[in-house]
Amino acid sequence: MPNMTHPSSPAPDHNPLPNNASVVAAMAAISDPETGRPLAEMGQINSVEVTPSGIQVTVGLTTHSGILWPAARIRIREVLQAAFPKVSSVAVEIAEHKRPPGKLGQIGLEAKSVIAVGSGKGGVGKSTIATCIALGLARAGSRVGLLDADVYGPSVPHLLGLSGRPEIENGKIQPAKHGQGPQAIPVMSMGFLVPPGEAVVWRGPMLHGAITQMLRDTAWGQLDYLIIDMPPGTGDIALTLSQVLPLTGAVVVCTPQDVALLDATKAIAMFRKVNIPVLGMVENMSFFACPDTGKRYDIFGTGGAKRTAQELDIPFLGEVPIQIPIREHGDAGQTAANFDDPASSPYLEAICERLVGNLAAAHAARPPLPSLPVLL
Ligand SMILES: Nc1ncnc2c1ncn2[C@@H]1O[C@H](COP(=O)(O)OP(=O)(O)O)[C@@H](O)[C@H]1O
Ligand SMILES: [Mg+2]
Repeated sequence: MPNMTHPSSPAPDHNPLPNNASVVAAMAAISDPETGRPLAEMGQINSVEVTPSGIQVTVGLTTHSGILWPAARIRIREVLQAAFPKVSSVAVEIAEHKRPPGKLGQIGLEAKSVIAVGSGKGGVGKSTIATCIALGLARAGSRVGLLDADVYGPSVPHLLGLSGRPEIENGKIQPAKHGQGPQAIPVMSMGFLVPPGEAVVWRGPMLHGAITQMLRDTAWGQLDYLIIDMPPGTGDIALTLSQVLPLTGAVVVCTPQDVALLDATKAIAMFRKVNIPVLGMVENMSFFACPDTGKRYDIFGTGGAKRTAQELDIPFLGEVPIQIPIREHGDAGQTAANFDDPASSPYLEAICERLVGNLAAAHAARPPLPSLPVLL
């Protein structure tokens, strides 16, 4: 009974040796995280080389899934190793596959995903988390823009140390830029237009106009992500956003405190009411780990956001502890420095990864249709 020793061997031809076609076939189940379509079908297997010493493949992925490139590389390697267990080495390279974004709605924003970061309550760290999501995605190679939609209390310019009045060129507002090169983040905020300390009273139509104008008239360029830092409270801005462009969804930030969770639950209901999908919940200020003793203090309670997310059937994207340096970096306009701090960066990176991973999973479940124009 020769087969009894390997009851789980799947293939009738034991341990086949690879050729180019069988390597491509082995990758049939690997999808592009951005579209959810098989890489092979989308012309994203750039090269396959089979030599006596092993397999080498290069696949093309877009910068939209930049943060998932390392995980994709590991997964493709595992799939090939499992398909060809006799092969001693499998090398997987990832190269950029260019796929420009289409135009969204009548405002013509060129972005693939538009993500609003909100919550019901002020001071829970929305702006900090929104800015960190933008920074984390850009660091992973994605093209990211950041819109500060908190017209009442704009804080993104301060968090990134940006100031000055934007210039107008060719009829477009030139956004401030954080960073250099292709990963520089264009940033637009009412904070660049209204002198600091000056109060602006916004009426509904003005608010709608200001947000629409910042979205439409800013030279954002071609973006993988536009991250929008939302004001606390009422649904005016969410409603405007939902009317002017198809939002990918919203991330809700809250602290583990009951009152914040209650407000977050209201914010989730509000997003749902205006048909903005809720992509997940982030728990900020989850705990404080004393730098002197390492002892953990649950200052605002703990785990509440995870529980609430579960109850409301929303993905939980992760937690961020209270870190004195997060506040210091924010005050100093050095929010990017959080990614150089090993006490903060793994939390922030995990949130970005889960967010993009969930988008990829949603695409895999239901590949997106071409975006339709949305009437203003
Ligand atoms: N995890 C954290 N640890 C320490 N301070 C934080 C943390 N998250 C936010 N902060 C600080 O809390 C304050 C409020 O954060 P902010 O992002 O402006 O909140 P919101 O936009 O919700 O009003 C800021 O001073 C910020 O630096
Ligand atoms: Mg804010």
